[in-house]
Amino acid sequence: MKILVTGATGFVGRNVVTQLLQAGVEVRALTRNPAKANLPETVEVVRGDLTDLSTVAPALEGVTAMYLFPVEETAREVVALAGQAGVRRIVDLSAASVTAGLHTNPVEQAVEESGLQWTHVRPCGFMANMLQIWAPSVRAERVVRYPFADDPMNLIHEADIAAVAVAALLEDGHHGAAYTLTGPALVTVREQVRAIGEALGEEVRYEEVTRERARELMKAQGGFAAESADLMLGFTDYGGEAASGEDGYSDQDWSVLMRPWPDVEKVTGRPARTYAEWARDHIEDFR
Ligand SMILES: NC(=O)c1ccc[n+]([C@@H]2O[C@H](COP(=O)([O-])OP(=O)(O)OC[C@H]3O[C@@H](n4cnc5c(N)ncnc54)[C@H](OP(=O)(O)O)[C@@H]3O)[C@@H](O)[C@H]2O)c1
Repeated sequence: MKILVTGATGFVGRNVVTQLLQAGVEVRALTRNPAKANLPETVEVVRGDLTDLSTVAPALEGVTAMYLFPVEETAREVVALAGQAGVRRIVDLSAASVTAGLHTNPVEQAVEESGLQWTHVRPCGFMANMLQIWAPSVRAERVVRYPFADDPMNLIHEADIAAVAVAALLEDGHHGAAYTLTGPALVTVREQVRAIGEALGEEVRYEEVTRERARELMKAQGGFAAESADLMLGFTDYGGEAASGEDGYSDQDWSVLMRPWPDVEKVTGRPARTYAEWARDHIEDFR
């Protein structure tokens, strides 16, 4: 059995690769830049771009299942190529916002209409979202400057998303399921910062700033922080096409995103990882 992992260099994809290897499965990893992929030696790394179908077809040869990173523009064609190549099972990375009805997901639709076995993996916000934003000031000054001190956030460890994806790739019984994935409990910004300090064994100060000030700081940081500032700080709408309902909003249920879901434990047999575990797993990034 050989499994194609797309998005293999991403937070989730890297964990999918590692966990498949641990399960003794042969892995082919797709990346646009093999030279930078930095994947384990036992992985067959192939160059490919999900928006360039001529590179996708060869990557699918001899593959029985695929972890699909969501690239909407070509999802339908990629899934069709997978079927032609003999792939029998696809697990796609989606989002809990689809469960909440905030939008639909063309990748999910393509996979469902493929005639193949499919499973949707729908995580809430990643614990890792703040890594690139907070790590520089934690490393330099042991401080986090951010708003929303006491707002509860529903966050998940990327290794748990991968664990559910791997179970759905390897085990029978997950066809037609959409798993909504969260951590074991909601966690505030203040609690996240405290957990990072505890993992470091040093105090990390939390400095509450306004959204506007946080935006300035994130824009000045450049890269991912600058790109995601407006969305993360609530200056732009979530976007996307709402699931259904004439006004486009009637099927929205935000409470879905504001409570822990049991799906990680249901699928993997063990509780979702806590934020404290995530902080320990990433401590070198903060040191
Ligand atoms: N962040 C959140 O809170 C959140 C919540 C719910 C759902 N999600 C979903 O999770 C995704 C992020 O997953 P992640 O964190 O694992 O990934 P990531 O760390 O953002 O990395 C992006 C990955 O996608 C690959 N990729 C991007 N465009 C590609 C293309 N055209 N062809 C082939 N590969 C392509 C990249 O591969 P190379 O650069 O190596 O080619 C890389 O492996 C989001 O896009 C969203 O759909 C995120």
